[in-house]
Amino acid sequence: MSNESSKDETGAGQAESPEVERAVEDLGPASDIGQEMEAGDEAAASDASPATDPAEEEAALEEKSEPWVVINREPEPSGGIYVADDGKVLGRDFLLPGVGPDDSDPYRWHTGAKKGAGGPAAIEIKDLVKQFGRTRILNGLNLDLPDDQISMVLGPSGTGKSVLIKHIVGLLYPDSGDVLVKGQSVPALSDDDLFEMRKKFGLLFQDGALFGSMNIYDNVAFPLRQHTDRGEEEIEHIVTRRLREVGLGEAHYKMPNELSGGMRKRAGFARALVLDPEIVMFDEPDSGLDPVRTALLCELIREVHAESGGCYLVISHDLGTARRIADFIAVLWKGRIVESGPKDELFESQNEFVHQFLRADVTGPLAMD
Ligand SMILES: Nc1ncnc2c1ncn2[C@@H]1O[C@H](COP(=O)(O)OP(=O)(O)OP(=O)(O)O)[C@@H](O)[C@H]1O
Ligand SMILES: [Mg+2]
Repeated sequence: MSNESSKDETGAGQAESPEVERAVEDLGPASDIGQEMEAGDEAAASDASPATDPAEEEAALEEKSEPWVVINREPEPSGGIYVADDGKVLGRDFLLPGVGPDDSDPYRWHTGAKKGAGGPAAIEIKDLVKQFGRTRILNGLNLDLPDDQISMVLGPSGTGKSVLIKHIVGLLYPDSGDVLVKGQSVPALSDDDLFEMRKKFGLLFQDGALFGSMNIYDNVAFPLRQHTDRGEEEIEHIVTRRLREVGLGEAHYKMPNELSGGMRKRAGFARALVLDPEIVMFDEPDSGLDPVRTALLCELIREVHAESGGCYLVISHDLGTARRIADFIAVLWKGRIVESGPKDELFESQNEFVHQFLRADVTGPLAMD
């Protein structure tokens, strides 16, 4: 290490820390680090600005403080009022993405109409609130997802669709509110019970999330080996059937990096199904696929659902996918569901936002910001 760099790395602040001093003492006075730190101290001392006249200092400060504006960025202790950088009062001590400071009624399009689809709900989300730092992503979300149907949650990018899925599988915990899966509160489960509950779920992540070091067969067999005590013969039967179902009957020994994006998704789908889950969740199954592959994957999802049933939840912002596979649609925006209901009703909704979103219209409440 050159003298030059040691000077840069050992400022006076570091040398003053008692832990650093003790460590240097432990190394002994002759140690290189000790010498370097001393050299740093000297350098810092020689860099210190010369003493200035107090009157001059005050004048300089006054000059500096002239253009400063005092901004109260913290919530008032009493009312929880948040004051934005431009001085506007938001009336809340958190930020809602997409909600401007002077928007006092961000939920005027959230009619909450057509909630539920008739029939029992497999997943119930009640007043779910989730905030990261000061940004509140979910702000009192209510939604029932029907059993034995394919539901879709649609919404602009960054509105919290993936955050919602993570609450359902217990990867994130609500700040308040509840998530019930088949009547059981997910946040209230112990770790062991959560582990058990996850066996009911099949999850398909955006990129298939396959283990790169395992071939396709082992990837698909993994949940069976991990969660069941089935023998290899039975596992082979299940894995072969599922891989054939998704059109990968010939790809058992391929590694994930030898497959196209669409094939990886199909392999991920096969893996999501091997435990015969009651609930299957897909986070953007269509992202990164060409239109034909997307259509084929949608067809496959519909076929498998028709055969095995269960509650499917598909997250997407693709309207074509929604038209193809959804039975039930919910539209998420500003941390709450704008409207939810059977697909045909939603596509015919007169709600200004839902109408705009489901027609990909450039005019309406949703703007680029
Ligand atoms: N663990 C986290 N910590 C902090 N912020 C997070 C965390 N997870 C998500 N967010 C934020 O929450 C917001 C919503 O994220 P999310 O991934 O759910 O969006 P999305 O609706 O799935 O978007 P997309 O359609 O682009 O996938 C984003 O602004 C994201 O940065
Ligand atoms: Mg997402």
